[in-house]
Amino acid sequence: MQEIYKKLGKVVIDYNSIKEKIKEIACKIEQDYKNKEIVLIGNLKGAFRFLADLVSELNIPVIIDFIAFASYIGTHQDERIRIVKDLKLDIEGKEVIVVEDIIDTGVTMDYIIKYLKEIKGAKEVKICALLDKPSRRVVEVPIHYKGFEIDDIFVVGYGLDYNEYFRELNEVREFIE
Ligand code: IMP
Ligand code: MG
Repeated sequence: MQEIYKKLGKVVIDYNSIKEKIKEIACKIEQDYKNKEIVLIGNLKGAFRFLADLVSELNIPVIIDFIAFASYIGTHQDERIRIVKDLKLDIEGKEVIVVEDIIDTGVTMDYIIKYLKEIKGAKEVKICALLDKPSRRVVEVPIHYKGFEIDDIFVVGYGLDYNEYFRELNEVREFIE
């Protein structure tokens, strides 16, 4: 076991709570998109588990794509946001939901919304975020489907990382550097 795993803090959200919440979110999305085509865009890498569990609860057809932006180094935010992996699909005129692990300052999501609307021509962009840290917000972003609000603590697990570690954990845990 790596030394860094000894620094893991308390469980903030256990896997059962995550799964229950995902069922609720999936129900809402099903109602909102009953007869509409929907494109789910996972923001890599943090959202890979959330997106996978979300589609396993969704009983409507979905189209899936991924996008990746780099914005974080360690626990400190890098000012620049840069595309690491672009969409494969053409989303011009489509209704999309961006699936995200966590909204912190909101800077990344604000950028993604503008990118998908203005550059990629999406007709509508909704946000589905597992975690929300409202106390840290710098830019307001609408969260249409939200999992949990958390305090201003750094968390890892269930897709979220610290320097690429801990994404494999089933639960969300605190990490104190
Ligand atoms: P924002 O631009 O400040 O909202 O940052 C969003 C991104 O920062 C998320 O997609 C995460 O990758 C990362 N991030 C923010 N808070 C945490 C955290 O507590 N743990 C792990 N990653 C985080
Ligand atoms: Mg992320």
